[in-house]
Amino acid sequence: MAVKKPKRKSMVVILYGKGGVGKTTVSSHLAACYAAEGRKVLLLGCDPKTDTSTRFLAGLRPPTMLDMVEGKLSRRFEALLTRTPSGVDVMETGGPEPGVGCGGRGVATLCQFLEEHPREFASYDVAIFDVLGDLVCGGFVAPLRFGRGNCVFVVSSEEPASLFAANNIARMTCRPYNDAASVGGIIFNLRRNDAPRGHLTAFARRLGVGVIGAVERDRVIMEAEERGLTALAHAPRSKAAHGFGVLAHAVERVCRSKRSAKATPMTNDEFWAFVRSHRIASL
Ligand SMILES: Nc1ncnc2c1ncn2[C@@H]1O[C@H](COP(=O)(O)OP(=O)(O)OP(=O)(O)O)[C@@H](O)[C@H]1O
Ligand SMILES: [Mg+2]
Repeated sequence: MAVKKPKRKSMVVILYGKGGVGKTTVSSHLAACYAAEGRKVLLLGCDPKTDTSTRFLAGLRPPTMLDMVEGKLSRRFEALLTRTPSGVDVMETGGPEPGVGCGGRGVATLCQFLEEHPREFASYDVAIFDVLGDLVCGGFVAPLRFGRGNCVFVVSSEEPASLFAANNIARMTCRPYNDAASVGGIIFNLRRNDAPRGHLTAFARRLGVGVIGAVERDRVIMEAEERGLTALAHAPRSKAAHGFGVLAHAVERVCRSKRSAKATPMTNDEFWAFVRSHRIASL
């Protein structure tokens, strides 16, 4: 008689970081890596730009949470879900017209929708939230509700403004109402491959979190994006595709080992003192 393999506990990966730092690039590549290993993956775009799914949809516009709120879709789980040929299932919040409504509300509404469908959500091996990093309202932290026992990862470049946002995100995870949230670590997505890296290790240590990996700036990632693909689909043997595979395993190791920790963030004054002492602005 065939022995049924025990199902691995599912993991919820929540990515935050400063605007433009590479959250969507990292989250869509992590999703592609897990799907390539045969995992059931749900990628959740929490950004009015609705661009989390573009590398999987060949230019098609997926249905969004906003469509559902406007009554254009039923509230069935499948109505909001788009299955893609890569094996990654996607959902997008979409977003209101500029200057109208609130992006964070869209994120909170998506999370509420997932809670209405616990069985379907739990059927995924991996769920990845790609969340706007501008933590301007409580809605942006709604995905932390799914983070119990799972992890927040911060995406940051080596630049001061990006590190500032990373410190702010660590502060957000320490607020009393987010006591379930822990930080799995920082994923550095470098602007310059020749940038000094010593201060990045020092920064992570100061925050009390680990460095999960560093993604290098790579033309292949941009070429893939231009074709509406991930680097895995565009150039499977590339250094970029390999690098994301290594990163995906590192993220999973942290999620499964529960090595995530309560961060020890800095105050704003401490942060700028850190920047000065490491001469980060002039690196
Ligand atoms: N490692 C990299 N190498 C080359 N290009 C990259 C890399 N990381 C990101 N990019 C490019 O930088 C741009 C911004 O990346 P991305 O959209 O992932 O950032 P984001 O943090 O999701 O932005 P936003 O906050 O606006 O959602 C994209 O065009 C992407 O292709
Ligand atoms: Mg993005």
